[in-house]
Amino acid sequence: MGGKLSLIASELSPRMGSDVKISKADLVGGAHAKEIRALLDQRGVLLFRGIAPEDRELRAIARTLGDLRIGGVKRGADGKVLNEGEEGVLKVSLDEKVNPDYARFLIGNHLWHMDGTYEEIPPLATLFTPFKLSKTGGDTMFANTYAAFEDLPGEEKAAFEKLNVVHMMQAGLFPAKRNCTVEEFAVWASYPPRSYPLVWHHRSGRKSLVLSTSAAYVEDMHPAESHDLLQRLIAHATQDKYVYRHKWQMGDLVMWDNTGAMHRVLPFDRESGREFHRCTLNGEEPITAAA
Ligand code: OGA
Ligand code: MN
Repeated sequence: MGGKLSLIASELSPRMGSDVKISKADLVGGAHAKEIRALLDQRGVLLFRGIAPEDRELRAIARTLGDLRIGGVKRGADGKVLNEGEEGVLKVSLDEKVNPDYARFLIGNHLWHMDGTYEEIPPLATLFTPFKLSKTGGDTMFANTYAAFEDLPGEEKAAFEKLNVVHMMQAGLFPAKRNCTVEEFAVWASYPPRSYPLVWHHRSGRKSLVLSTSAAYVEDMHPAESHDLLQRLIAHATQDKYVYRHKWQMGDLVMWDNTGAMHRVLPFDRESGREFHRCTLNGEEPITAAA
């Protein structure tokens, strides 16, 4: 039913995000799964208003699109895998009572980042739906790292394609909590660093910048130059023209492409109980440079 019809979508901003009109039944049934995957790749963020999926529906929608992540990938200091969710649904909240294992990592969500840059293959995409909103703040912003690469001058593109960047959890979390304890820092630092190319040659043939607060330093570059370059690139990639800012309504379902976008949440009241339910799709291709 409806499988042959094409999706009705309109742009949320010129270079980032589309608002897609589709019924919940069609989403859950996967009627347009292929088209949705293609549109997500092109547009970085997809918004479906008025869906209000229950957890089981969120899982079902996720499964029509890819490999739903079940269980955690992060490990605690004791080596045990942290509980990131229930059967694939993670509760995103700063409240340790809502998510005891995971809440303390979420302060990093306030800074521009990609998810899972401590993993060999970062997640493909996220499905995100509000459970409780904060009355103030808490918009989520998305920046298109394909477009940011595309617009660079040719000589910079060529130079950046040769660079590798080391990502570390402490680089992502320390700026979000400068007054951390030594113990907190030790937990962040216990996650192994990962080296990724700065420019990702996707299997699709498209190229994107691999940027995130977790980008600690450029390999084989003086630390000062590396710092300045990474700051400059994050500033470049997060200019208004590459960004869509989402103001949440209850019922929204948003999907973001974690391979060609960064995201961040704007400050909100910690006491607001802001909570989202999230499904993560496992990554399907490692970050690779030009052959
Ligand atoms: C995340 C994240 C942003 C938000 O769940 O990875 O960055 O708006 N969330 O809560
Ligand atoms: Mn995130």
